[in-house]
Amino acid sequence: MPKIGIYPGTFDPITRGHIDIIERSIKIFDHLVVAIAKDSNKSPVFSIEDRINMVSEEMKGLGQNISVESFNGLLVEFAKEKDASVIVRGLRAVSDFEYEFQLAATNTSLASDIDTILLPATGDRHFISSSMVKEVARLGGDLSNFVSSHVKSKLLDYFNGKKNEGNT
Ligand code: COA
Repeated sequence: MPKIGIYPGTFDPITRGHIDIIERSIKIFDHLVVAIAKDSNKSPVFSIEDRINMVSEEMKGLGQNISVESFNGLLVEFAKEKDASVIVRGLRAVSDFEYEFQLAATNTSLASDIDTILLPATGDRHFISSSMVKEVARLGGDLSNFVSSHVKSKLLDYFNGKKNEGNT
């Protein structure tokens, strides 16, 4: 049986931190599903279509054993649908631990055959968050260390559009 992992998130937008986790996860699993939550409890600035496109663009060149999908409802139900037995999450700092621990425990009590592994963020990736990236973009800062040039241009389009809306 191929070992299938699932890496869920909102990916609003995908950052270099997420890519670090994906690159390391594909060495662990036969196949990795990057699962984009359609409706998380956040209010994403990018539509689900935009988030799928951005993630798919980043996955080009990372090999054949990745698929990018979106999901609604419970993550464990989607994991079962995809035959994934392991949920992957990134751990950036001790402050992430409590939330990740609760999420893992909730998912395991919902589906005891699905386990979670937490991969520590490496090197200079440990502080990135999608909210911080959006804040830097909104204020016109340099995004190069945080996101790819493709995501950077999407962020600039979005925030320049917002500025122009404000001027009309
Ligand atoms: N590097 C950089 N940033 C990282 C990171 C890493 N390795 N790991 C996480 N992050 C950041 C994200 O950018 C994000 O930043 P933000 O809060 O500023 O947006 C934050 O850390 C965590 O968000 P993300 O990884 O997108 O996950 P999430 O917490 O938004 O996603 C779901 C949570 C979608 C996995 C979860 O809500 C879910 O499973 N929902 C479905 C319903 C369900 O089954 N719930 C569980 C049972 S109650």
